[in-house]
Parts: sequence; C-alpha cells; structure tokens
Amino acid sequence: MKFGYFDDKALEYVITTPRTPLPWINYLGCNDFFSIVSNTCGGYSFYKDAKMLRITRYRYNSMPLDSNGKYYYIQDGDVTWNPGWQPTQTPLDFYECRHGIGYSRFTAKKNGLKADLLNFVPLHDTCELNRLTLTNESEAPKSFKVFSYVEFCLWNALDDMTNFQRNLSTGEVEIDGATIYHKTEYRERRNHYAFFSVNAKPDGFDTSRDAFIGIYSPASAPDAIRNGGCTGSVASGWYPVAAHELHVTLTPGESKTFLFVLGYAENPKDRKWEAPNVINKAPARRLLAKYQTTEGADAAFAELKAYWENLLEGYHVESRDEKVNRMVNIWNQYQCMVTFNMSRSASYYESGIGRGMGFRDSCQDLFGFVHLIPEKARQRIIDIASTQFEDGSAYHQYQPLTRRGNADIGSGFNDDPLWLIAGTAAYIRETGDFSILDESVPFDNDEATCVPLFEHLTRSFEYTVAHKGPHGLPQIGRADWNDCLNLNCFSDTPGESFQTTGPSEGPIAESVFIGGMFVRYGKDYAKLCAHRGLLDKAKAAMTEVQKMEQTVLSAGWDGEWFLRAYDAKGQKVGSHECEEGKIFIEPQGFCVLAGIGVKEGKAEKALSSVEKHLDTKYGIRILAPSYSHYYLNLGEISSYPPGYKENGGIFCHNNPWVSIAETVLGHGTRAFDIYKKTCPAYIEDISEIHCTEPYVYSQMVAGSDAKYFGQGKNSWLTGTAAWTFVNISQHILGICPDYDGLRIDPCVPKGFGSYTVSRRFRGAMYRIHISNPDHVEKGIRKLTVNGKEVSGNLIPITEGVTKYEVEAVM
Ligand code: GLC
Ligand code: GLC
Repeated sequence: MKFGYFDDKALEYVITTPRTPLPWINYLGCNDFFSIVSNTCGGYSFYKDAKMLRITRYRYNSMPLDSNGKYYYIQDGDVTWNPGWQPTQTPLDFYECRHGIGYSRFTAKKNGLKADLLNFVPLHDTCELNRLTLTNESEAPKSFKVFSYVEFCLWNALDDMTNFQRNLSTGEVEIDGATIYHKTEYRERRNHYAFFSVNAKPDGFDTSRDAFIGIYSPASAPDAIRNGGCTGSVASGWYPVAAHELHVTLTPGESKTFLFVLGYAENPKDRKWEAPNVINKAPARRLLAKYQTTEGADAAFAELKAYWENLLEGYHVESRDEKVNRMVNIWNQYQCMVTFNMSRSASYYESGIGRGMGFRDSCQDLFGFVHLIPEKARQRIIDIASTQFEDGSAYHQYQPLTRRGNADIGSGFNDDPLWLIAGTAAYIRETGDFSILDESVPFDNDEATCVPLFEHLTRSFEYTVAHKGPHGLPQIGRADWNDCLNLNCFSDTPGESFQTTGPSEGPIAESVFIGGMFVRYGKDYAKLCAHRGLLDKAKAAMTEVQKMEQTVLSAGWDGEWFLRAYDAKGQKVGSHECEEGKIFIEPQGFCVLAGIGVKEGKAEKALSSVEKHLDTKYGIRILAPSYSHYYLNLGEISSYPPGYKENGGIFCHNNPWVSIAETVLGHGTRAFDIYKKTCPAYIEDISEIHCTEPYVYSQMVAGSDAKYFGQGKNSWLTGTAAWTFVNISQHILGICPDYDGLRIDPCVPKGFGSYTVSRRFRGAMYRIHISNPDHVEKGIRKLTVNGKEVSGNLIPITEGVTKYEVEAVM
C-alpha cells in the first residue's frame, strides 16, 4: 500500500494522507540552522548542535506520536483546523505534503478555504521561513482567524527535559511589535536568543504556554482559541512560547500571504543590550528586514532550489529504470547530504542529545557526499584525523561543536583506524588532491603533536599490524563495525555499557571482518605510499596485506563461508559449529569485495552461502539463526530480540557490501537484485509493512525471525545512504573514481539496456553513454573518449579539457 507518490520532475515525494504508518520527515537547512519537519508539521529546530542549541521543544516518546511542532491554527466559524492536520486532527477536504530537497510544502483545504504552507531554511540566514498563503475558494467572503504557535526549548535539550527545578523559573521573553523574542539565560552567560515573527500587525499574541494552550488542555484545543483569542501573556518562568493571532478577511478568490520567521541571533559580548535588560535586537531586525515581502522569501527559495539542483548535477543517470534514476539522481544523494549535516545526531530515532560524530560513521558517510562537496569532505577528514591517538587508535566518537574526542567512550574499536584510510582514499580518488596527505594534523587535538596526514594513515595501518591475535587476525577490541559484537565485555549488570565494561580490550578475540578491511584498504595505503615515492614502504605494506589475505583464507574460513570472529576464549563466532549465529553477513561481503578468495573459489562459495542462509524477500539478514538468548561472551548483539537490529535484522548498511561483492564476481543480475530489495523506491508499495519513509533508507528492517518482518526503523541517519550510493553509482552503473581518472566498469543485469551518466569530476563534466548490445553483465570492451578510442577502461585526464563525451560498449 502507498501513502503518496514520487513527483520526480519536482524532486518531491508527495504524501497524500496525514495518517502515514509513522511520521515521515524531511530536513531543512544546509549550513548552521536546521529543522526537522514531519508530514504533519511536527519536528523541531536547532542551531548547529541539536543538543546544546535547541530552539524549539520536541517530545520524543510523545502521545499521540509526533505531537509537538510548529503549528498554524485556522479558526473559521466553529471549525478549527491545521494545514498539516496535527494537532487538531480536524478532517481535511484536501491534504498534501510535498517533501522536497531542503523544503516541505503543505496544501490543505477546509470549507472553501485553502492553505498553502511552504517551510524552508534560506541558504544564508539563520532562520526557518514559513510562507503561509490563504485563499478563499468559496463563493462568499470569509472572515477567519489564524494563530501561529511554537514552543521554545531552553537551549540545552537534555537539561530542558530533566532540570525542572531550575528551568521552570528561568524562562524570559520580550515582545516587540510582531516579534516575540525568547531570551532565557541571556541575562547571564548566553549572548544569543531566538525569535518568532510575522510580517503583519498581529491582532494578539501569547508567550506563555499556560495562557495560550492552557494548563490542562491538549495542543489540539488551545484555551486561547476556544475562549475568543490570545491573552497578551508575558511568560515569566514556566513555558515560554510564541503565538500570534491574525484576523483575515478574504473576498471570493482572494489570497493573502503571511511570512513567519523563526530565527536565531548572536551578539558580541560587549553589545548584548540596547537598554538595561533589553536585548540588542539589531541582528534579528536585519534578518527580518529581508523577509517582510513575499519577494524576499521567494528569492531566498529560488536560491535554495538552484543550490540543490546544481549540487545534484554531480551525478545524474538516465536509464530505462525510473526507480534507479529517481534514487540516484534525487533521494540517495540527498540522504547522503543529510548524513553529512546531521551525522547520527538528530532524527526521529536519534534524539539530538545522544551520540556525537562517529569516527567510523563519519569516514563512511564521506563516500556518499565527497563528489558533491569535496572541500567540506577535506575538512571533515582533517577534523576526524585530529582526534586520532598517537598509537593509531581512535576516539570512537567526537563532539561536533568542539571537534574533540569523546572521553566517555574512548577508543578500542579496532576497525576505526582503517576507516580513516578508506575515507582519505575516497577523497583522493575523487579529487586527485594528494596534497591533503601533507596537511599538518594533530593527535588528540594537541597542536604540539602535528604530523602530516599521511603519517596518521601509517599509524592506522600499523595499529592493525601491531594488534593481532593468536591466529594472526586483527584483534577486535571493544567491537568492530558491528558495535554490538562485544567479545571482551561480559556485562551482566543492567545499565552497564556493553562496549566499555569488561576486563580488557582483549589480546585473544579476533575479527575476520577487520581482516577483510585491512586487505581492502591496505592496498589503498600501499598505493598512497608508492605515490609518495616510498616504494619500500609500499612493498612492505603489500606483504602485510598478502599475509592477512592468507590468514583470512585459512584461519578465517569455515568451509562454506568466512567465519565472523574468535571470541575471548578463542572459540569460533559465525561458524557452522555454533548453535546460533552460524553465519554473518559482514565478512562475506567485505572479504569478497576486498578480492579475498576469488581465485580459490571461496568467494563464490561464500556468496552462495549468503544467498542460501541469509537472504530474505526484504533483504539480507545480518546473521542466522538469530540468538534466542543472551550470550555473555557475545554481548549486546544477543540482547536484541531475534530479528531486530544486530541480532538477525536486515541491517541495510551491509547489504551493499554483498552487492558490491557480487559485482566483483561479475554477477550483475544478483547484485542488482540485492540493490532493489532494500531500495526505498522499489518497496514503496509495501509502505504499510515497511512503515518508514519510502524515499530514504532506514538503518534496519526487521528480519524474518522478528514479529514484524519487513518493518523499517531508524530512517535517515545511517551509513546505508553512502554505501548504497557507492554500490549503485560506482559498482553497478560502474562510474568509479580512481586515482588517475574515472574508471568505467559496469556490472548490470543482462536486460538493463543502455544508459547515460553525467558526472562532475575534477572540474570537468563527463557525459558517459554505456551500451550493451550483447547483453553481458560485466565490463566494457570498447571505450571512446571525445571521439578517440582508448584501450582499457580508464578515461585518461587531459589538461584543460572540461567536457568529456564518452562512449562505452559492454
Ligand atoms: C550503527 C552505528 C555504526 C555501526 C552499526 C552496526 O549504525 O552507527 O557505527 O557500525 O550500527 O553496529
Ligand atoms: C549502534 C547499534 C546499536 C547499539 C549502539 C551502541 O548504533 O546500531 O544497536 O546500541 O551502536 O553504541
């Protein structure tokens, strides 16, 4: 069942009922000011950091679900309704929510009145604009009232939801004409405030929630609206809000537009006040001046649209499969940009107060946006590397505002260091900018320890070499990519961390997965050494890589598939000998995509085993059979009920690894099949089962051992976005950035037909047409670049050429 449809020309998903299985959200903002907005106008805003500078209040775990947002109430006769349906839930004569790229648009009609609400964050201002146009579509004049409503958060979102003994006394506001200023804590150490304004003279306002909504009233039936209008309340402590009241009369056919602005402003310390206890409003006034007219708002909206359209031209495919086109050209790249902006901080599953930026997550997210914003990717790599320790290990997380490692979690996740090589290699393949390797980068943010970035990669590589277990495989530490495989923890007390409790990071427990990673990214490291003329170092690195490859093929092989790990007692994990958790996805995908076991036939065997034991109609499960009880030696993985999350869920992040692995073996049909199973556009018509947004990936889909098999969770902020984009753009469609240029190496189903990819690459535009007259699945036999045939599959870069017309024949 569907709850909407894709409008590809507009780059929008159109939701046609407010009663989606879960709130379906979108993100507004590209730089510093961000908002989450759901299809019923739920959500919240923040400045830079969703924990420290939360602007509006949201209630996670709310009831009904998603019940706080930015609301417009329309009181027309005795009916009060909202253009986004919530919170009144008054049935609408027409409802539509269009989630677009960086904006959301709501259209609703009730009793001959139409509301069109456009929400976006301008590129260059720290505010969200809500453009509300009301049209009288009836035959008679209409007089009605419009009420706006936002509830402020007292900045620190965690403190806001816990520290009531203080917070209920600190709230302060100022009112200046149509603008309501939220200035809690400004009198002491803060020099920033928020404001909510409208470009009209209001007929009333409230700033106290108790006055506007009422102490015992729900947001669906505010006291002020029921009792004849706003009360002019001035909040003092308790719950500061901003509500405007506007009286509107429209003749038949007439429209009127209001611009509401929710903004954030900062003042220099010595210019905080314009009079005693009166905040300096100059920055807010400057911002608001731009948005007094619809022209001002429309120009900002046009600029935003142009920004995104230009960005998305970075990779554009035209194939016969409209779902591939839609995901590649619009939604998958958009989701990658959202993961760049948000990391894992704020979604409807990430509360904005929890995890900082993950070391491994951020390195992988980069794969998905490096072609779009290479300069920002460069800075991100340097930020990440600056948190690495001198011995090559890494803080598992760092804080976005301070960019410092997070000491609560510390280090010891032994895959982390290698992801730095992966991210840097992806950046250099994209940009050809080897100079990044010479950037001076500290360890643990201590400027006294700066060394060239290249040295950081060396430490990453050597960390793995120096931390091997009894079989010669890498030690797993607290966990590898699978955060929940905690082989050195043994936690039996509720509330303890599964990762950081435990006697040691263990000299015994080993990870076959990290072995695969080492082979894959060790080769990149060796290439970078060679590029710097360090031939001995390159050779030594390749020797280590080959040694690891042999170790994985022997100690890491279970007979029909790759083992997952050895635990702290040296017992096998992910073996046919195990009672549960006999086979895991990660080593099959990663070892084969690293090229391990291809010649020996083990790669083929491993992937057949995946198909046989892990595949389901909704994607490939992370392991099987799921653990039915808690295993002290395995940790958090076995804490989840069977079929959910790391315990047998379909963890979408690593499905593309298997798909890429299939392309290594030339299996185009199978690779594409795997791609489709988790790809949102292909499962749109099972939205009632999948539940999460049909335009973005979720971290996890419940596996076949779960009660709700096929149900998605944790949408938006997941490494799945980057990896699926790498899979489809580089390995299936086969446009792969390499150190010396673009390599063309498609692997598609036999009947996929010809297609064209336009791609921005190192300052030039490439238009690559791929035809497949013989219906093969892999590789090209002829390559013509700007009219000249070249041998091999690499498009050579010619100095000064900015347009490449490429013909490739499979
Ligand atoms: C989550 C984490 C990621 C981890 C994965 C598997 O997505 O953000 O770091 O690799 O779970 O446990
Ligand atoms: C990852 C996993 C999650 C786990 C967390 C622990 O996010 O997906 O299941 O609880 O890591 O850090």
